[in-house]
Amino acid sequence: MTVTAALRLDPARLRARLEGFGRIGALPGGGVCRLALTDADRAGRDHLVAEMQALGLTVTIDRIGNITGTRQGREDGPPVMIGSHIDSVATGGLYDGTLGVVAGLEIAEALNDADLTTRRPLAIAAFTNEEGARFAPDMMGSGVHQGALDLGAMLAVRGIDGAVLGDELARIGHSGPAPCPGPTPAAYLELHIEQGPVLEREGLDIAAVTGVQGISWTEMTIAGQSNHAGTTPMGLRRDAGLAAARITLAARALAQTFGPPLVATVGVLELSPGLTNVIPETARLTVDLRHTDADTLTRARAQLLAEAEVAAAEEGCALSTRSLADFPPVAFDPALVARIETAARARGLRTGRMPSGAGHDAQMFAPNCPTAMVFVPSQAGLSHNIAEHTEPAQLAAGAQVLADVALDLLEGTP
Ligand code: GLV
Ligand code: MN
Ligand code: MN
Repeated sequence: MTVTAALRLDPARLRARLEGFGRIGALPGGGVCRLALTDADRAGRDHLVAEMQALGLTVTIDRIGNITGTRQGREDGPPVMIGSHIDSVATGGLYDGTLGVVAGLEIAEALNDADLTTRRPLAIAAFTNEEGARFAPDMMGSGVHQGALDLGAMLAVRGIDGAVLGDELARIGHSGPAPCPGPTPAAYLELHIEQGPVLEREGLDIAAVTGVQGISWTEMTIAGQSNHAGTTPMGLRRDAGLAAARITLAARALAQTFGPPLVATVGVLELSPGLTNVIPETARLTVDLRHTDADTLTRARAQLLAEAEVAAAEEGCALSTRSLADFPPVAFDPALVARIETAARARGLRTGRMPSGAGHDAQMFAPNCPTAMVFVPSQAGLSHNIAEHTEPAQLAAGAQVLADVALDLLEGTP
C-alpha cells in the first residue's frame, strides 16, 4: 500500500454534500430539475464555486462555463482530473453527475484533513450541459474542453425553450475567461452511478467501466397539412402525426431487428397545432440510437432514416432531419481500467467490468489522456427518474475506489 491509499474519506460528509445539491432545484416528491443554464443550474454552480473556495481550491470558469477547482501539487504540470456534471434532466435524481463532482470535493477535503500535498495537482471539474436535455448535444462542456465540439457553434445553440446557450451562460454569470479547448489533464477519472440494472442484477458493488457506446441523436420534422378532423376523408389526409407514429414504431422494430446492444428511443414527440379536431400539420420527434459498434450504429441510423422517408412520403408529408448529437463509441485506457478493478478488489468489493450505456464527460477525454470510470449500482436500474437511488455504503465504496486510484495517479505516473 502506498501512503496515499490510506486516505480516509468521510462517507457522511459525502452524503451531506450530495443532499445539499439535492435541495437546489428540488422537485416535489424527490429528485431535481437543474436543466443546464437555468436559474436552478446557476444556484447549483454558485454553490459549487463556494464549496470549492471553502476547500481552498483555485476556481476557474472557462468560456463554455465549465467550472474547475484546482488543488496545488508539489510539482507543476498537468493535474489528475476528477470530473462529472451538476446539470440534470428535467426529472433528474440526486446522483447522476453530482456524485462524481462531490466525490472529487470529498477527496480534496480528505487531502486537506490529512495535510497532504500530492505530487501532481488535483483538478475537480463540473462540465456544462452534460445532459443535453435543454441544449443539444449532450457532453457539451467536456466536448468543447477537449476540442471535439466547436466553442462558437455551441454558444450559438438554441435550446428547447428558444434560448441561445451563450446568452444564458452570460445571463447566469458563468461565462468565464478561461480558454477552450482547455488543457488536457495527465489523467481523467469519473465516478458515476451505473444508471442501469446490471450491477444490481449481478450482485456487484463496483464496475470498472471499459468504455462508452456510440450515441446518435436525430431530430425529425414532418410537414403535412392541417385540416378538419370531421370532414377530411381518411384517404385524403396528409397527417404528420401518423407519419411520426410510424417512425416511432419503426425505431422499436429497428432495435428488435438489429438486436442488443442497439437501443432506440423516441423521447420527444410534438404535434402541431395539437388540437383534438385538427389533423396535425407538423410533427417533431427525436430519435436516440446507441450501439457499441460505430459501423452498426451508422447502418442502423441510415436504415431508420430510409424508413422515415417512406413513412412520410406514403402520408404525403415532407421529412427533414437534423443531427443533434453524433458521438462514436470510445474505449477507456485498459491499464487504468485494470487499476480500478485491482483497487476495488483490494477493498474487498465485488467487482466486474462493463461498458457504459449512458453518455459521460469521460468519453470526451478518452481520446486524449488515460481515462476511466467507476460505476456504483443504481437501485432497480432507475435513472433520469426522481426515484434514482444508490445506498450510502455503495456511494462510499465507489468514492473510496476513486480516491485510491486518483491518489495513486497523483503520486505516481499515469
Ligand atoms: C447523457 O447523460 C445520456 O446518456 O443521455
Ligand atoms: Mn451523468
Ligand atoms: Mn444523465
